[in-house]
Amino acid sequence: MSTTAPAFAHRFEPAADPARPPLLLLHGTGGDENDLLGLGRLVAPGAALLSPRGQVLENGMPRFFRRLAEGVFDEEDLRARTDDLAAFIRDAQARHGIAAPVALGFSNGANIAAALLLRHPGLLRGAALLRAMVPFRDPPAARLDGTRVLLLSGASDPIVPAENSARLAAILQAAGATVKHHDLPLGHGLSQMDVALARDWLAALPENAP
Ligand code: MLT
Repeated sequence: MSTTAPAFAHRFEPAADPARPPLLLLHGTGGDENDLLGLGRLVAPGAALLSPRGQVLENGMPRFFRRLAEGVFDEEDLRARTDDLAAFIRDAQARHGIAAPVALGFSNGANIAAALLLRHPGLLRGAALLRAMVPFRDPPAARLDGTRVLLLSGASDPIVPAENSARLAAILQAAGATVKHHDLPLGHGLSQMDVALARDWLAALPENAP
């Protein structure tokens, strides 16, 4: 176990159903470690929940990495923060004895989940990306065979253009991930459609090995 993993404020709930893959909950801008616990319990009942708080503050609002403008990322910061989050996840896995998690990320949290997939292939068992964008202008070459991704975009999302989410799906697919992309008749906010699709997708994932 590393003793140098960066300290993220976080919540951890142990699994009531150890067969379910653990869920890594990654909040959107202005959220915190408490934000997605309810959603996590709803879409993956009984799963262990690991929910860190982003370490960047933008006008007092927690985020997982810096941005230069809406949808324009500080990629140097994104790379460093992605590596810090990966170290935290590895450390939390060892501390809590949990398997590789499935990320459930919303907006800024979905963007760093996509960055984790591309920079640390194999760390996540899969990822449900809600309103995600392409994280890197020049994505690193990653092999993601065996990694499952659910991408839920909003057709009228003012922050994520349809071309951008389609490009993210294509990048992940080209890397070998099994990608399910739904372009929903929604904006940037989440709805019951997201909840139902995420729940069904998570329920269909293979169980943890006993
Ligand atoms: C981001 O900065 O990650 C995206 O613009 C989404 C957001 O947080 O608004």
